[in-house]
Amino acid sequence: MIDLKDVTYCRLGTKDLESAEWFAVNILGLEVAERRKGALYFKSDQRAHTLCYFEGDPADQATAFELGSKADLETAAATLDRLGYAVHQGTAAECEARMVRDFIRFQDPTGNILEFVVRPTMSGRRYHGTRDAGITGFSHVGLCTTDPERDEAFWTEVCNARVSDHIGDAPLMRINEIHHTIALFPFTGPGIQHINHQVAGTDDIQRSLSLIREKNINITFGPGRHPTSTAQFLYFSGPDGMTFEYSTGVCEIHDEPAWRDRQFPFEPTGFCQWGSKPNIAAFQD
Ligand SMILES: [Fe+2]
Repeated sequence: MIDLKDVTYCRLGTKDLESAEWFAVNILGLEVAERRKGALYFKSDQRAHTLCYFEGDPADQATAFELGSKADLETAAATLDRLGYAVHQGTAAECEARMVRDFIRFQDPTGNILEFVVRPTMSGRRYHGTRDAGITGFSHVGLCTTDPERDEAFWTEVCNARVSDHIGDAPLMRINEIHHTIALFPFTGPGIQHINHQVAGTDDIQRSLSLIREKNINITFGPGRHPTSTAQFLYFSGPDGMTFEYSTGVCEIHDEPAWRDRQFPFEPTGFCQWGSKPNIAAFQD
């Protein structure tokens, strides 16, 4: 069993780093942590970075999860290898580019690029966005799946994820007490379906709503409240069509192993209890 501790970062290729920086700083509210040749690193919490845009193909997307130790990483690599996954051992230069001590990379059964990392660099400086978005941290990802049942088994049987709830066939899964850190949404191919940052409260969602409207950014869902996690949310479009989400008030699950996952319908009421309807392909039938 591969014991994932937390989601660590996303890496997104882009043909237009300048536009990606403008959006990340002025709309999303992230802080530029570091500039390197062909890559920009953004901070959203106590970590050295939680998002990296690099010059490349927008389809080149990776999501990283933290493991507890190098020994755990070696065991994970052996497990994945035994199961037939092509595991790439990160080189020193690749570790440096990810600000981690060690990592492996492979593709999940859908083809999503995953990186399992150890000892991601923390920052001695706290996050301070140039705009007051109220972000408290990078919190979860939605990943596309071409076969939710198969991929749920990967996360829950090969890895330590537990299903908190389903929306239709889409599992919302936790790897710690937070209701979900990984969610899988049926789609035609691999990709990061959305990237979530938590914000401190409702006021932050509303403030961002006003700003995002004013800047003519495409709001794709919300504001609303998820009946699953109880989080209030706002989804909007970023560079290269990536969906970003702010949410606040995500519930925690402390009554392990008593918690039983609940089934919600794959229709607007399964996603929002305030009546908002998603304009996001992976959230629609
Ligand atoms: Fe989300």
